[in-house]
Amino acid sequence: MTYTDSTLLELSGVSKSYGDHVVLSGLDLTLPPGIHALLGPNGAGKTTLVNILSTLIPHDTGDVRVLGLDPRRDRKALQTRISLTGQYAAVDGRLSGMENLLMMGRLFGLSGREARSRADVLLERFDLTGAAGNHVETYSGGMRRKLDIAASLVAEPQLIFLDEPTTGLDTRSRQALWDEITALATRARRSC
Ligand SMILES: Nc1ncnc2c1ncn2[C@@H]1O[C@H](COP(=O)(O)OP(=O)(O)O)[C@@H](O)[C@H]1O
Ligand SMILES: [Mg+2]
Repeated sequence: MTYTDSTLLELSGVSKSYGDHVVLSGLDLTLPPGIHALLGPNGAGKTTLVNILSTLIPHDTGDVRVLGLDPRRDRKALQTRISLTGQYAAVDGRLSGMENLLMMGRLFGLSGREARSRADVLLERFDLTGAAGNHVETYSGGMRRKLDIAASLVAEPQLIFLDEPTTGLDTRSRQALWDEITALATRARRSC
């Protein structure tokens, strides 16, 4: 992971509506590299903004730069640099934790050996090595969430979007997840 740009995000005058329902209006925001949290009540537009920044939906007006790229114009280039862990777990319950990560690695173009070694590292990092061979449908909510985040890290993205990463987790899993996210950011800063 490298932070070559001094600005992570740059938004100016960004607006987004669904039909005549205005969700974002004239949003200005500049963020440096690091960990940032977007807070707001249900329906405030957090997921909408995350979806715009991660190229899933286009904004209507204004200017958006993520890692210096425009999510509308430079969609493909940006997609190779970011990852998104959505609000709902996206891992396949019928596969084991290891199989989910291997599949993700192969989808990202890693060789079988590279995918295996990446999966081993991530399972270890998220304390899932012992459960690696078990079907994900037997995992607890916290384990599933951690695997979900591990899956989004297979491709070593420069920027990670996490939409409500700790919703539904108990206090201990929540703390473990924040510790891991802090460690990831520290490693990224060191490798600058
Ligand atoms: N695809 C959609 N079509 C119409 N309205 C939507 C759509 N997605 C979100 N909304 C509306 O936009 C508002 C913001 O939603 P959202 O971004 O999901 O908020 P948050 O993530 O902060 O809870 C809500 O009023 C929601 O109903
Ligand atoms: Mg949301």
